[in-house]
Amino acid sequence: MKKWWQEAVLYEIYCKSFFDSNGDGIGDLPGVLEKLPVLKELGIGCIWFTPIYCSPQVDNGYDVSDYRSIDPAYGTMDDFKRVLDAAHAMGIRIVMDQVLNHSSDEHFWFRESRKSKDNPYRNYYIWQPPKADGSEPNNWGSYFREGRGSAWEFDAATGEYYLHQYSVKMPDLNWEYPPLRKEIYEMLRFWADMGVDGFRLDIFTRLKKPEGFPDTQKQPDVLLDRNGFIVDKKMCTNVPGIHEIIHEMHKEVFGPCDVFTVGEGAGVNSENAPGFIGKEREELDTVYHFELAGRSKPVMRAEDFRRVQKAWYEVQKKGGWETQHFSNHDSARQVSNYGAEGKYRIASARLLAVLLLTTPGTPILYQGEEIGMVNVSYDHIEDYNDRYTVGDYRSMVEKGADPKETLAVLAPKSRDNARTPYQWDASPNAGFTKGTPWLRVNPCYPEINLKKDMEDPSGIFRGYQELIRIRAEHPVIPDGEIVFHLEDDPRIIAYTRKNEAESLLVLANLSGEEAPLQLPRELCEKNWKLLFSGRPECGGGLNAKHTLAPWESEVFLCTD
Ligand code: GLC
Ligand code: CA
Repeated sequence: MKKWWQEAVLYEIYCKSFFDSNGDGIGDLPGVLEKLPVLKELGIGCIWFTPIYCSPQVDNGYDVSDYRSIDPAYGTMDDFKRVLDAAHAMGIRIVMDQVLNHSSDEHFWFRESRKSKDNPYRNYYIWQPPKADGSEPNNWGSYFREGRGSAWEFDAATGEYYLHQYSVKMPDLNWEYPPLRKEIYEMLRFWADMGVDGFRLDIFTRLKKPEGFPDTQKQPDVLLDRNGFIVDKKMCTNVPGIHEIIHEMHKEVFGPCDVFTVGEGAGVNSENAPGFIGKEREELDTVYHFELAGRSKPVMRAEDFRRVQKAWYEVQKKGGWETQHFSNHDSARQVSNYGAEGKYRIASARLLAVLLLTTPGTPILYQGEEIGMVNVSYDHIEDYNDRYTVGDYRSMVEKGADPKETLAVLAPKSRDNARTPYQWDASPNAGFTKGTPWLRVNPCYPEINLKKDMEDPSGIFRGYQELIRIRAEHPVIPDGEIVFHLEDDPRIIAYTRKNEAESLLVLANLSGEEAPLQLPRELCEKNWKLLFSGRPECGGGLNAKHTLAPWESEVFLCTD
């Protein structure tokens, strides 16, 4: 028996950019409620909401100022309950984002914590005295490169520094302090009791900090170095002791409340994953990782795809459960990165849909990918909101880099590519809002929008819909064996999926050129029925096939 989350397709909603119901330019919960039917039509089984709690929005909600609330910009708690009930009535589960590494500096805990060294909330955060010369406790740089660039901020009231791996306004919580842990567990139970079905855990690998806060030995990146503070992704990642924390959370909350958990696997790879998601570990159900796709991975070669899929299938065989994703709110658009804009946009978007939905594990689909939304490029840094883009830009320009060139370098990987408002139709602002959108709408919306795409029976939305249905009808997809063919081919991805009951064959041409194809004899001798064609206009069918058209993809079922 599979669990619901092994069968469902997860759909990530970035509420701020989804649909604005009241014209203030900000997507909201009544907007989600209104659009639920179209998600049902798509066939998804679960929504992951990025944080919709009260927040000063320094990092669009990843800076939480009240974990038990809904930000008024998104609606009320009643609005949330309405979405929860309506989704449940449609058979759609709800997963909430939990940001447990840090809070907003406007959270009540932090406002108390900074007041005095003996405040009851002092130890909810990580405070350190200055070095003898008054400088920062160590050389760690903050990911967002704000202020002087340090991950420590001096607080005059008590004469100590607090740690913030991310923004100055996002102080790290102190997981060494039992009362903080207890408070977090109670908060998680609050949401579970309300009926939410699971949690997505933000950067959970960074909750534990290294003892004594040693300097990082990493070399500074010349252009991005800020006053000698060094951004080192490893500084607080997978520090010994992290497993005890996650296991305790499981024991206190995830297990007893029977909620699904998916961790953001910064620093998780196929080697160390079993430590977090192995069943016997009692930590998390699954994670999503960055070995194939992510902000720093602008290309995906066929050989990378094969290597990563094979390695993660081994994790699954060992009792872990994997996920698939090609983009999310932290990356650029998958079609721009791994497919093709322009002439082959639809073909390549459908190809990515094939790969996402016919590989093992749970697929995670990010809003807008089902209509093939693409990257955006603005001429002014003021049009960007992403803290990474803005921080890196300042740092590089300070070092003398040319502003225009800097923007050209940073734009393709800006997280804002994925955060521009959803393109519903060709009306002003893509039908997202009647007001002024909080982030500029991608000007391509008259061409790329849901309404137009849905009208095309071989469009992207219809492709996702069909593939989601195929995935539900063929249990071999979530956990059957995956075997690759034509492994020397730099452009073709070819694999079979097999269990005792059935087998599927998937072919995909990851290039804009025709790709000749010579399948192994044992495959050719079988009878294959075409289940899905990424480019129906090219004429499908295996027997007659000697080449794949540019960005063509196909799924076959063995009928022997
Ligand atoms: C995660 C989130 C990202 C956020 C960061 C800090 O990576 O996905 O959006 O900026 O954590 O919370
Ligand atoms: Ca609104």
